[in-house]
Amino acid sequence: MEFKKGYFITFEGADGCGKTTQIELLDKFLKEKGLKTLLTLEPGATDLGKNLRQILLHYEKPVSDEAEMFMYLADRAQHAQMIIKPALEDKKIVLCDRYTDSTVAYQGYGREGDIEQINILNKIATKGLKSDLTILFDVESEIAQSRLGKTKDRLESQGMEFHKKVRKGYLELAKQDPKRIKVVDANRTIDEVWQDVKKIVEELLGL
Ligand SMILES: Nc1ncnc2c1ncn2[C@@H]1O[C@H](COP(=O)(O)OP(=O)(O)OP(=O)(O)O)[C@@H](O)[C@H]1O
Ligand SMILES: [Mg+2]
Repeated sequence: MEFKKGYFITFEGADGCGKTTQIELLDKFLKEKGLKTLLTLEPGATDLGKNLRQILLHYEKPVSDEAEMFMYLADRAQHAQMIIKPALEDKKIVLCDRYTDSTVAYQGYGREGDIEQINILNKIATKGLKSDLTILFDVESEIAQSRLGKTKDRLESQGMEFHKKVRKGYLELAKQDPKRIKVVDANRTIDEVWQDVKKIVEELLGL
């Protein structure tokens, strides 16, 4: 089966909310139906992005908030233009682990950056390419942290207060754009969460 157009679905939520787990289940489900998918992620899907990801997650010296944000945006610009857009033109279902909402939630709400400015920068980086659907996995910050175990990267080892601000920010975004952003209660088991994801995507694609 082929669709008349591509679909762009993004997965959002705190570290440890279950994005990667669920995106892989969805990719498998859609492929079994014979649909063309592209499973991708931010940061680090392109060669340039892999270099940026290495710095973003593992650089040991202080990184200014602005430098951090521009690295995410550079990664996104390269990703949107070199990978996502061509896949959508090829009528694929693009499943993307993190996209523009992550920058608003983390750099905007989490680090208290200027959200209006971030929206403009996201628009420049993506040339206005928005997701058709965003699934937000909402989870208690303590539960998300406990799922991650002991090996945390530079961003995951921020304090609990930061994670709570990010969570609130995501929920605020969902409130502002309820048509695009669907909130799934990710405090439950992998299978319970998956049933919701499946239903939301089946509805979008008319399956
Ligand atoms: N609903 C769930 N209940 C319990 N454990 C879960 C659930 N979903 C995922 N996990 C487990 O929690 C851990 C983190 O999940 P996952 O990697 O999918 O999260 P993530 O959102 O991709 O995190 P990150 O942002 O750090 O990449 C994994 O070990 C995964 O198996
Ligand atoms: Mg992940």
